[in-house]
Amino acid sequence: MIELRGIHKSFGGRALFAGFDCAFERGKTTVITGRSGSGKSTLLRMLNQLERQDQGTLRVGDLEIPAGLSDGEWKRRVLQLRRRTGMVFQGYPLFPHLDVLHNVMLAPVRAFGVEQRIAEQRALELLASVGMDAARDRRPARLSGGESQRVAIARALATGPEALLLDEPTSALDPKSTEDVVIVIEGLRAKGMTLVMVTHSQELARRIGDRIVEVGAK
Ligand SMILES: Nc1ncnc2c1ncn2[C@@H]1O[C@H](COP(=O)(O)OP(=O)(O)OP(=O)(O)O)[C@@H](O)[C@H]1O
Ligand SMILES: [Mg+2]
Repeated sequence: MIELRGIHKSFGGRALFAGFDCAFERGKTTVITGRSGSGKSTLLRMLNQLERQDQGTLRVGDLEIPAGLSDGEWKRRVLQLRRRTGMVFQGYPLFPHLDVLHNVMLAPVRAFGVEQRIAEQRALELLASVGMDAARDRRPARLSGGESQRVAIARALATGPEALLLDEPTSALDPKSTEDVVIVIEGLRAKGMTLVMVTHSQELARRIGDRIVEVGAK
């Protein structure tokens, strides 16, 4: 279970969240919707602490990250958190200077100290699972948007997270590429992965969402 309790978050005096509560059930898919600028990306970024909440508490299983921790304690807990969540970012998601294989291997090797050979084997398995193993040597500039997103999903899974956070994974894609990405996401859902996905697509929300949370609704 991932939980946000009593979350406050403002930028420059503008409150995006004021006493926001939300629970994301293990093994379920939660879809986040809301108009542009309502705070959807900020919500995902708080779930892996790329953005710290001003007040309130994030809980991921037994790991608790309240606002106001000392920097040292926060860093210690965030290291544990980052092992549990993977993120697919909005927009252009890959490291442009690395080929597909090394995009997927980077975090396991650099952040978690996994041996090259083991990281490579795992990366190739993940790339195969999203249909992108044949592109292992390609740079991101030579991938279509849908292919990039599938590699970004493989990369987010490379550290073995319990939950995957996806920020508008299909927003810039044509229907065929969208379908390729959605099939990958549906596969993860069927395997019981906990998913939190931001989308503007009502159709996609209905298709894969177990629950829909609207941000910034007044
Ligand atoms: N680090 C930041 N510093 C200052 N303002 C920020 C920061 N991050 C987000 N904002 C502001 O907070 C608001 C919400 O941003 P956010 O990216 O969460 O919206 P969103 O719902 O994801 O929008 P979109 O649908 O366009 O992606 C925006 O007004 C944005 O400019
Ligand atoms: Mg956004």
